[in-house]
Amino acid sequence: MKIKLTKALPEQLKTPPASMSGVVFGTVFSDHMFCMEWDDGKGWHSAQIKPYGPLTLEPSSMVLHYAQMSFEGLKAYKLESGEHGLFRPRENFKRMNLTSKRMCLPELDVEEMLDALKQLLRLDSGWVPGEEGTSLYIRPTILATEKAIGLKVSSKYLFYIILSPVGPYYPQGFNPVNIMVSEKYVRAVPGGVGNAKTGGNYAASILAEKEAKELGYTQVLWLDAVERRYIEEVGSMNIFFVINDTIVTPMLTGSILPGITRMSLLELGKHWGLKVEERRITIEEVLQGLKDGSVTEVFGAGTAAVVSPVGILSYKGEDCQVGNGETGPVAMQFYEHLTGIQYGHESDPFGWMEMI
Ligand code: COI
Repeated sequence: MKIKLTKALPEQLKTPPASMSGVVFGTVFSDHMFCMEWDDGKGWHSAQIKPYGPLTLEPSSMVLHYAQMSFEGLKAYKLESGEHGLFRPRENFKRMNLTSKRMCLPELDVEEMLDALKQLLRLDSGWVPGEEGTSLYIRPTILATEKAIGLKVSSKYLFYIILSPVGPYYPQGFNPVNIMVSEKYVRAVPGGVGNAKTGGNYAASILAEKEAKELGYTQVLWLDAVERRYIEEVGSMNIFFVINDTIVTPMLTGSILPGITRMSLLELGKHWGLKVEERRITIEEVLQGLKDGSVTEVFGAGTAAVVSPVGILSYKGEDCQVGNGETGPVAMQFYEHLTGIQYGHESDPFGWMEMI
């Protein structure tokens, strides 16, 4: 794929933050972005890297009305060796293609996109932060851009990739977060788009999260939409439980995002010889287990959230403490090994890191 390059002028170049402490996640962007367009009958075309800046969209662009879109989240890390590496980037572009199937978006060539991303990252390499726990968050996005108010499959799309240097997603960092189980709202329904990484899933979660935050909780834990019993995910991360020394996460039923960090923790756990289960888990099982001590840890896993211990789970107005409310040993082991591979402190037996 031929990529046109327009570099930012010296006066357009920004200075990356000297330190990521105090920078709110996802609010600072690098100097350049990758863009390409898709038209019916023509396919993807006009690939270019250009200065980061506003998009020009018709107010009638279909994405602005009907949300036909998809996005991804992956990260580039500065390794101990000084090299820059991506964590399992092909998995993100493959998942983007799965979302595209469900949302009727055009698919991407995984290897071409990886090559385009690497070119962008080489140009903005000064934006990969080096402090512990920091990374360059990468946001590929596809939008339906046909100007039409009628509901149909768009005939035009825009794909772009932007880069944002980030520290921890939650202000708590790696300290336990408090999570409220949503009783009033649901995130996704069987046959819906819960397993697609599309904006509507996140838009649908905002009110519940706002209400949870007003009550002092960081995030919402979603239950299934039919029986309102089976645990699904947190919305910004998948969820794991340690139950009688077994690592358990909800099985992918179609309404849960197939997280790449989720998949990596399952693979790591199996590699270590730990007992790992993907199955349906009810909220009653977890609450009972927290009371009788069989559930010893709860933690989330996601690209932005990495591994995030849960200190309190609140259900029907009752706060249940997880263990002693501190980070447990399994969450700690996963966090240290996963970030160890990502920053090059640990060996990478699975070949997960892709050097830039
Ligand atoms: C990610 O973890 O990469 C996501 O896209 C979640 C988002 C809420 C930041």
